[in-house]
Amino acid sequence: MTTHAPIIAPSILSADFARLGEEVRAIDEAGADWIHVDVMDGHFVPNLTIGPLVVSALRPTTRKFMDCHLMIESPERYVEAFADAGADGITVHAEACPHLHRNLQQIASLRHHGGGSVSVGVSLNPHTPVESIFSVLDLCDLVLLMTVNPGFGGQAFIPQVRAKIRALRQEIVARGLSTRIQVDGGVSEINVHEVAADGADNYVAGSAVFKNKRHPGDYAGAIAAIRANAAAAYT
Ligand code: DX5
Ligand code: ZN
Repeated sequence: MTTHAPIIAPSILSADFARLGEEVRAIDEAGADWIHVDVMDGHFVPNLTIGPLVVSALRPTTRKFMDCHLMIESPERYVEAFADAGADGITVHAEACPHLHRNLQQIASLRHHGGGSVSVGVSLNPHTPVESIFSVLDLCDLVLLMTVNPGFGGQAFIPQVRAKIRALRQEIVARGLSTRIQVDGGVSEINVHEVAADGADNYVAGSAVFKNKRHPGDYAGAIAAIRANAAAAYT
């Protein structure tokens, strides 16, 4: 079981891109802990989104942790630009990194705008065995387990990933690490208690915040519901 307080990270992929700055301010005020930024290159995933210029433009709109999820090939070419743009954390995909250890070391060596070091994350697609990153776990502040196939918001949660969350939590506890487990894709107030019980402690939510039918336009209500249902599973 986790000892961390839950972190709720709304994904701006589901926000209104014509008003992105306002949307970031709105989720900040609504109680988001982190701002999750989905970066896609049209190669690693079949979609194109945003780059360091947008992160840099959004940086003055919030003081919250800017969590950049890089779904791109050759991330070593861009991580420094994201750090300079104001990323607090950078997550790369293991599947996109034949030299993953080197990639993670590179991120760890970066400093962000505020002077602190950039938080290091590694992400796994639903089919990738979690044991494949055990050898680099001590380099990671965060492991992002994809609970959909990356590329798009609004997809259905893949329940088979739950066994990976449990195996990863067991490994983290056994080794006495403080690595966070982030889940991303199809996570909502309805199923968050399941992944929380499995050992996740960091929840990305796109449509469940920006397009929630139970809390239409009420980002604070949506974030509070996810937080409450996650926290309930910890007790
Ligand atoms: C998918 C992205 C996710 C996605 C989450 O490739 O990494 O962050 O936007 O959106 P929902 O919560 O709608 O599945
Ligand atoms: Zn993401």
